[in-house]
This record gives sequence, structure tokens and C-alpha cells, in this order.
Amino acid sequence: MSQIENDLETSRLLRDWYRKHKRELPWRESSDPYIIWISEIILQQTRVVQGMDYFIRFTGRFPDVASLASAEEDEVLKYWQGLGYYSRARNLHTAAKDVMERFGGVFPNQYKDVISLKGIGEYTAAAIVSFVWNQPYPVVDGNVFRVLSRLFAVGAPIDTAKGKKTFTELAGLVMDPQHAGQHNQAIMELGALQCVPQNPDCEACPLKERCAAYAAGDVQDYPVKQHKTKTRDRYFYYLYIIYKGKTWLSRRKEKDIWEGLYEFPLIETDKAMDFAALQATDAFRRLFEGAGRLNVSVDLQGVKHVLSHQILYAAFYRIEIERENDALNAFLPVARGDVEKYAVPRLIHIYLEKLGGNLSE
Ligand code: ADE
Repeated sequence: MSQIENDLETSRLLRDWYRKHKRELPWRESSDPYIIWISEIILQQTRVVQGMDYFIRFTGRFPDVASLASAEEDEVLKYWQGLGYYSRARNLHTAAKDVMERFGGVFPNQYKDVISLKGIGEYTAAAIVSFVWNQPYPVVDGNVFRVLSRLFAVGAPIDTAKGKKTFTELAGLVMDPQHAGQHNQAIMELGALQCVPQNPDCEACPLKERCAAYAAGDVQDYPVKQHKTKTRDRYFYYLYIIYKGKTWLSRRKEKDIWEGLYEFPLIETDKAMDFAALQATDAFRRLFEGAGRLNVSVDLQGVKHVLSHQILYAAFYRIEIERENDALNAFLPVARGDVEKYAVPRLIHIYLEKLGGNLSE
């Protein structure tokens, strides 16, 4: 059997398995490139179960390119709230406007045009053109890395450019170009359901007989990563400042996490502090100079919030002030009951949920 025949057989096994085992997911009902695009960007961000709710809400409010393109950015961010990586939502918005301008509102069907849209990389472009038009572009995501690295016992690190190239070539080799869309969905689904990172049930795998790692008994050693990701610790102290029915928010700036989202006034430090130490910082003094007596309560402490390359340790203090002072002019005054209307990071959302609608009491 030639190598290619062999690979077509792998693809057939994958697709047979997929037909029997695939999950029924709302985006799988659709052949609208817009819908596939939105689902793929959401799924880069979160697991399928959680992504489903976001997908339904997002596509309910923005059912097509035109509705997304004509929305206000803040509203788009609000619908993204909780998913993190807000640059993805901003890119969706920019790309939708671009589709209106450059392609007359019709989502392009050429790979080169699709990949020219902001926020669409090789993976998403391949997913869209293969799922929707069956074009022979292989998808390569984390699931595919895992399946291929085990299937062929490839030790090339998946977090290097060279490793990625190796796996992209392999992905193209095993894909049956006649069935690119089904094949791509199948290999990803196998990675998601069967060839899972920890303790896969290899006995039930359709590729068991052709899996090199299974034959060698070292499935657990794949895929290989070169770099362990470094994380940075940050300490966030949020101040829920209250004066009569009002509080204050601020909009996060560029070049840091959560660009464009709203949060309570924040003092960030590079080490953990209790409230007494926080109160002694210059930032705290400047913020409350002239505000009179402070009535402080600790609302939430010791929150650990893990992002992909950072660990945030956060606390929330509720501080009633006696007078409005000048320092507050740097912030956005908001009626306390209106805080929920702003797009906030998930960390702030957790706090608001804990307050449980008691924001204006
Ligand atoms: N993960 C990424 N894309 C997916 C899809 N289309 N279906 C299920 N899981 C996915």
C-alpha cells in the first residue's frame, strides 16, 4: 500500500468514526461562513459547553455580517464579556466592517481573502473554507497536534515554528482532499473526545491499529512542548467607591489585558498587601485626598484569577466617602445601578455577581 493510500484510509476511518460519535452542535447545522467564523473564534476562547451559550447569544444579536458591522464596539464587547481576550471581539467587529467595505457584505470564499481579514489566521481560514466549501486546507489546532503527534510519534515541539510546519504538512498528508470539511471536523473531534490529553481510552480509538505512539506504549509523552509558559504575578486592589447613589469606573487602556473594558478604580502593586499597607501607598492617598472620612469594608479578598500568562491576586474594597474630591475627576461617574451595563472583565463580573444586584443599596 502506498503512503497516500494509507493516509486516505486514515481519513476514511476518521470520518466513519465522526459520523457515529460527533456531538450535535448548533454551528454544525450551518453552512453560513459568518456563523462558522463566529463559532470558531468563540471556540478558540472557551470550551464547547460554555461556548455554546455565547454563540447563541452572540449570533442571536448579530445574526449576520451587516448587523455586526453596524453595532457599537461597546455592545460587541458586552456580548463577549466573560470570554476574555477582548481583542478577538474587536477584531471580529473590524473584520465585519471590512467585509462590508471590501466584499460588498458577502463573506469571501477564497482562502487568501478570508485570511486577509483581521483576527483570522491560518487555522480559522482553513476551518471556514473547508467546512463551508470543502476546500482542501487542513486545520491545525491543539487537538490536531495531539492526534498527529501520537499517530506518527512525532516529537517535534508544537510550540516552535518548525514544529508547526511539520504538523501542518502532516495534516495535509492525512487529509482526503475530496472530503476536506468532514475530515477536518473529524480529526478535531477525535482530539476533543477520544485522543484526549490525559488517560485516553486507546482501546476504543478507530486509529489504534495505526497509531505509532500506542504501539510503543508512550501515548502520554505526546505532544512535546519546548517551552514551559512563564507566568507573571500581579496584585490588583479594586476600590468600589461610593458617594450617595454614585460610583466610579475607569476604562482600561491599550497594551495590557482587558483593553477597553471597564473596572473600578484600581491600585496595582507588585506584591501582596493588607489594607493598612495599601492605605499607606501614595496611590491610595492621592485618590482619597479631600474625600473626608472613609467607611471601608472588605468585600472580597484572596481572589486568584488565572489568565494565560498572568496570575492576578485580587481584593475588592467597598469605600464610602464623605465628600467628592478632585481625584475622582479622572474616573467615569456612574449611577451604582448602572454598573451592570458596562462591559467588564470576568474578574469584575465575579465580584458583581457576589454583590448579587445589591449594587445600589
Ligand atoms: N473546536 C474548534 N472548532 C470546533 C468545532 N467546529 N466544533 C467543535 N469543537 C471545536
